[in-house]
Amino acid sequence: MKRNIKKIIKDMTLEEKAGMCSGKDFWHLKGVERLGIPSVMVSDGPHGLRKQDNQADHLGIYDSIKAVCFPAACATAASFDRKLLEDMGTALGKECQAEDISILLGPGVNIKRSPICGRNFEYFSEDPYLAGELGASFVNGVQSQNVGTSVKHFAANNQEYRRGTISSEADERTLREIYLAAFETIVKKAKPWTLMCSYNKVNGVFASENKKLLTDILRDEWGYEGFVMSDWGAVNKRVLGLEAGLDLEMPSSNGITDGQIIEAVKEGNLSEKILDRTVERILETVFRYTDYRTQIEFDREKDHDLAVKIEEESAVLLKNEKQILPLNPKSKIAFLGEYAKSPRYQGGGSSHINAGKISNAHDFAGKIADIIYEPAFAADRDEINEQWFADAISAAKTADAAVIFAGLPESFESEGYDRKHMLLPDCQNKLIHEVSQVQPNTIVVLHNGSPIEMPWINQVAGILELYLGGQGVGEAAVRLLFGIANPSGKLPESFPICLANNPSYLNFPGDGHTVEYREGIYVGYRYYDKKELPVLFPFGHGLSYTTFSYTNLQLEKDNITDQDTVKVSVDITNTGKTAGKETVQLYISDLTGATNRPVRELKGFEKVFLYPGDTETVEFILDKRSFAWYHTGISDWYCATGQYAVEIGKSSRDIELTKKIQIKSTKLLPININENTTFGELLMDQRTHDAIMEILNKRKSEKQEDTKDEKISEMMRNMIENAPIRALRSWRGMDDTSIEEMIAYLQGFVE
Ligand code: BGC
Repeated sequence: MKRNIKKIIKDMTLEEKAGMCSGKDFWHLKGVERLGIPSVMVSDGPHGLRKQDNQADHLGIYDSIKAVCFPAACATAASFDRKLLEDMGTALGKECQAEDISILLGPGVNIKRSPICGRNFEYFSEDPYLAGELGASFVNGVQSQNVGTSVKHFAANNQEYRRGTISSEADERTLREIYLAAFETIVKKAKPWTLMCSYNKVNGVFASENKKLLTDILRDEWGYEGFVMSDWGAVNKRVLGLEAGLDLEMPSSNGITDGQIIEAVKEGNLSEKILDRTVERILETVFRYTDYRTQIEFDREKDHDLAVKIEEESAVLLKNEKQILPLNPKSKIAFLGEYAKSPRYQGGGSSHINAGKISNAHDFAGKIADIIYEPAFAADRDEINEQWFADAISAAKTADAAVIFAGLPESFESEGYDRKHMLLPDCQNKLIHEVSQVQPNTIVVLHNGSPIEMPWINQVAGILELYLGGQGVGEAAVRLLFGIANPSGKLPESFPICLANNPSYLNFPGDGHTVEYREGIYVGYRYYDKKELPVLFPFGHGLSYTTFSYTNLQLEKDNITDQDTVKVSVDITNTGKTAGKETVQLYISDLTGATNRPVRELKGFEKVFLYPGDTETVEFILDKRSFAWYHTGISDWYCATGQYAVEIGKSSRDIELTKKIQIKSTKLLPININENTTFGELLMDQRTHDAIMEILNKRKSEKQEDTKDEKISEMMRNMIENAPIRALRSWRGMDDTSIEEMIAYLQGFVE
């Protein structure tokens, strides 16, 4: 239905328009009955529906309707599977239609700067490319059902500590390359109906009133057309926010800030055009939903099965010594730990789902194998029960293998606060240690939203990372443990050996007022790889019950300009005996030396399913952005002339194939030549390179120097490169006038 929204706005009173700028209550927008504007409902999100009927809150305290709890983003990111995320989004979109929810509040795409951010479980990755790609697929899925999403939390909300007031201080390049990039990808690829601004300040300005973020970058640069809502209670100064580009304040402000908007317009402090612009954005979205409602049933059984499948494709097999997994169902297996019966499957806070059905590993495994179960430790606290402990050890001794269902209690990680450390509860670490002393076939199954330290890593034979796997986690775990399904997840984040190795360690969580992102772009593997630091498990790591080989890496062209695209292909073969999926990862390494860059960055991934012996060719298309970095001098993405390596790997630390490509930049950087410009800068610039070589060579021939000793000439060259033009005074006795003439001559090449 085509609506004349401009006409509706014309018919609205100032009060009605101001009213549209804040919530009616906790979950609804206001409507205007006389003009046929309906009041629509929004709901968390992101991995299930948290539709609250009666009491409302944004911290997951009060109940919501029974719904399906899908794996949290920490898990789904490990699937490295765009299609799977789209399927999950589609299912959630249908659930929203069934429950009359116009906008699902998610996905959360903030970058995992520190492993102890309390909300990491709700975010995808430490890598913006992965987070952006998966986030875009999720948004496309939800929105395919004509339900909106709210991509959150925009921006630089990477900790819970003082999240309502802290200022995240990051330089422009870091913001662009790391903290904004996932949002950019989603805005451009999936056109989300809404975005949610974060609580925090970014470089001193509240995200909710940050014009640079909400208008200059989001709308003017990226072309965003939806509306921006606030996080719940994130508004500081309402009128400032409206001017900056914040459209909807959530939840209700009890009319207080509506009044401020009215007053500002009446007093001439706020242009009514700005208000109209916001109302238009909101109404476009509201009618986009209500005009195309569909009648769908919420099929909880079907969605439960999808939740199991998603978790199965997401769990990461971290370690599998002596092929301890898959387990033989005919053997006697001890399941230890309460999580075997009541798994931890979701995080705390606003994303908390009231799951209607939860599958547990104990019951599911009981159907196919001989299981001895001992609770061993309580799932919700760090406390040793001597009797339980002793029973667990003796069960482990008598069994052929022991599977310890370990994990972080809910109180350890949640929205609202950060973790204090990266350890499992002491009682669990002690149990794993002692069980592994009596049982060489010890396997640890982890339920956690973010990385942990593993002091027992060398003592156990297998580790299966389930993350927070949603309500089907038990079933998925058993299918993977017994080889009914083949693990195919890959880590969407590095597992450092200890917290102190993390690049944000010295500057997390800041001084209470500001948190300085001093590690810059060196987040996660970008840091560990550059520093050559050992890690527990690298970004992208994940094992399978089969093996894969990579061959025949081909670049369609090996010499391009930054305006071209290039096709890359590689063959992947299942060389083992089991069917399985592998994620082919493509990294780019900048060899130009033009600026400080990570060793490699993920710029492509594809997941493929292969039967034993089968080969498939996987293709990637790379463009300028795959090679570029954000150049603050030109406020744009820049790809320097020179060589780059295209790498195909199984993780950021396991590169299988490499090919080089030469790229010519079509962008000429501005250069202001003066007496302090170095010869190196002039040599690097293609416009001045020849002229400066000629000047330097002239000197050589004048002095009849020879270059018998290569080392010396290399040394000379290095010295010359770092010297400024004014050095010609002492080298050649050039006076200031001659130097100025030379500068003018060189400047002629760059204008
Ligand atoms: C969270 C948001 C959530 C909102 C509504 C806030 O506390 O930060 O992610 O969507 O509450 O529950």
